[in-house]
Amino acid sequence: MSTSSSSLPGGTWPLGELAMTRVGYGAMQLAGPGVMGPPADVDAAIETLRGVVELGITHIDTADAYGPRITNELIRTALHPYPKSLHIVTKVGARRDEHGGWPPARGQEDVRRAVQDNLETLGLDVLDVVNLRLGDATGPQDGSVAEPFETLVELQQRGLIRHVGVSNATAEQVAEARSIAPIVCVQNMYNLAHRQDDELIDELAAAGIAYVPFFPLGGFSPLQSSALSAVADRLGSTPMSVGLAWLLQRSPNILLIPGTSSSTHLRENTFGAGLTLSDDDWAALDQIGRPAQ
Ligand SMILES: NC(=O)c1ccc[n+]([C@@H]2O[C@H](COP(=O)([O-])OP(=O)(O)OC[C@H]3O[C@@H](n4cnc5c(N)ncnc54)[C@H](OP(=O)(O)O)[C@@H]3O)[C@@H](O)[C@H]2O)c1
Repeated sequence: MSTSSSSLPGGTWPLGELAMTRVGYGAMQLAGPGVMGPPADVDAAIETLRGVVELGITHIDTADAYGPRITNELIRTALHPYPKSLHIVTKVGARRDEHGGWPPARGQEDVRRAVQDNLETLGLDVLDVVNLRLGDATGPQDGSVAEPFETLVELQQRGLIRHVGVSNATAEQVAEARSIAPIVCVQNMYNLAHRQDDELIDELAAAGIAYVPFFPLGGFSPLQSSALSAVADRLGSTPMSVGLAWLLQRSPNILLIPGTSSSTHLRENTFGAGLTLSDDDWAALDQIGRPAQ
């Protein structure tokens, strides 16, 4: 069954001239365990990706570091030549080591090579959006973004990238990047239980910049809270759907990229995000990530 983009929960948000459905899809879960190597079931991964487009979703988030290469190659196998409406957002700034770690790779040559690798594995001449991933696996770390971000902007000026953003960034790094060149999005960890970017989200909304939470469902440790389960039970829904609906209603600049390797979960997440939350639901959920008074 095909669904049109305009009928998806939350409608669309523009990244520059690109119309992104606010319900998107995060492709990281398609690679093998630990985001290394191929998935156990390649056909299922391809079916999930084709399901994304059939649902009318126009935003896929990926990185050449997933697999590495594997996730981008699956996207290419499943969807190339890409529909005009589909926009693939990728990232540079980390590589993979032999233990499956994510060491930073933000030297000028690393950034140039990573953009080239993403172009090749995705089979594109121009990347729609590239995020510079900062910090490390433990989260954002202070420090100037100037050298790697200026390198990314140089590649944008050469026509290899349409739009740029930053990821895993502090508010100061977002401000520094914005002082160098316009950004269209910030991709940071945020969900019902991790509200550290509340102020940043509001500031970006006022500036017309998208905020794209990674780990919207809790990532490798699924969101768990009795308040969340109580709201889900009351609505006859699931904690995952409630968590996504809360994000969609939290701010108009929030774009969802829930990750799943399952076509069933893909559909549940896409439509579940459209739940309407009452004021009482909202008040109960709002307490989850707030520090105790
Ligand atoms: N910028 C960064 O540094 C960064 C870091 C991490 C992730 N990301 C991006 O953010 C995206 C989202 O993050 P994520 O995938 O790590 O975490 P997530 O979306 O918070 O959660 C994914 C997990 O939830 C499960 N899940 C999804 N839908 C479900 C449902 N309806 N019912 C039950 N379980 C469900 C998935 O398992 P199943 O596969 O079994 O559904 C998977 O284990 C990634 O795909 C990636 O594109 C970016």
